[in-house]
Amino acid sequence: MSITELNNLSSFAVPLQYSGSSKGSNKKARAAIARGQVLFNSKPIQITGVKGMLDIGVSDASRRTPDMPLYTLQNKVTGETIETTDPGRALVTGKWKDIGRFKGPVLRSVASRPPYFHNGSAKDLPAVIEFYNTRFSIGLTDREQADLVAFLASL
Ligand code: HEM
Repeated sequence: MSITELNNLSSFAVPLQYSGSSKGSNKKARAAIARGQVLFNSKPIQITGVKGMLDIGVSDASRRTPDMPLYTLQNKVTGETIETTDPGRALVTGKWKDIGRFKGPVLRSVASRPPYFHNGSAKDLPAVIEFYNTRFSIGLTDREQADLVAFLASL
């Protein structure tokens, strides 16, 4: 798949609502949230090695931990096989193209409901950012990762 702009996800972003004074650490925290919002809305991510927007590779066999099953699925027409820890939407539709696809959850109040992804494989928000950064080789700096976490925690 070609380059996907995070703009596509901007519907997830809600206007920031600030409260309290704008001094000291509060000001720094707000600046981090604002930088994180800009990153979220504009950082290009090259989506590779997956089958589209709803398959980000969370259920890839390579990410399996011992508490997860491993399914080998075979396409009856082409003979192709796929190993996955969760067929995802394909369990509902029966379609090959839906293997590994999952609903993209609304991110409102996301900080209050770890762990993340359908299988809980990211224990906290930094782990989510770490997943995207390594899975899609985004190259986020430590500060950018922290800013994205601050932004997500403000939703
Ligand atoms: C840095 C950018 C991104 C951030 C911060 C982000 C954040 C998140 C978070 C926090 C979750 C877990 C929500 C939960 O479990 O309640 C999630 C899930 C998901 N996101 Fe993203 N996301 C980003 C980029 C993307 C992109 C580019 C796509 C599509 C190509 C995408 C598609 C999905 C999907 C399909 C899920 C559900 C995955 C599953 O449950 O296995 N995300 N995202």
